[in-house]
Amino acid sequence: MTLCESGGMADALVSKSSKGDLVGVQVPPLAPTQLFKESLLALFLVYSDRGGIWMNWGFIQHLEQIDKLLNRLNALEIERDYPITWERVHVISCAQLGRLLARERGVDIELAALACSLHDIGRWYTGRQANHALHGEEPVREFLKTMPLSEEQKEEILQAVIHHSEKEKVGTPLGEVVKDADILDCYLHGDEITKPFHLARLEKLIK
Ligand SMILES: [Fe+2]
Repeated sequence: MTLCESGGMADALVSKSSKGDLVGVQVPPLAPTQLFKESLLALFLVYSDRGGIWMNWGFIQHLEQIDKLLNRLNALEIERDYPITWERVHVISCAQLGRLLARERGVDIELAALACSLHDIGRWYTGRQANHALHGEEPVREFLKTMPLSEEQKEEILQAVIHHSEKEKVGTPLGEVVKDADILDCYLHGDEITKPFHLARLEKLIK
């Protein structure tokens, strides 16, 4: 078996058998954008300051609560525009993107992660995309009741959730993190971004 540079596939390593048959292609990872390189370094430094290995167990417990809620809602057997599996994935990856954006913009990182993880809660209940941001008001109020946050922080998260579909408007710094993390996460998972205001946000994020 040989490894050689592919003429047709730039930067890919192509594995061939002794007979010359193609047996595999190894594609090098994409280079991270400057935003990601800088943000990951910044997060590493923050965590290093806290004594090296540091885990946010509060957030992990919060995810456990979400997991239980999603299990309960999945049992409702209502029609859904998106499968519950996507909701689970989006909760976590949107929270992580929210952390990166929040760090970049001087927004509270953990508040951003919480808001991002909960932003589609309205859709979890109704199964439907239509007006899901507004349908999140009561569920998110209920969810936050027992969270160790001030009333102001809960209100900030609530506002970010119920306004997150207003991508054409500029909202609070926390709200903007949620909107941008939402668009970026959907894009990174292969969703086709077509609405003009969504595209405008995406272009700013990945330029
Ligand atoms: Fe979303």
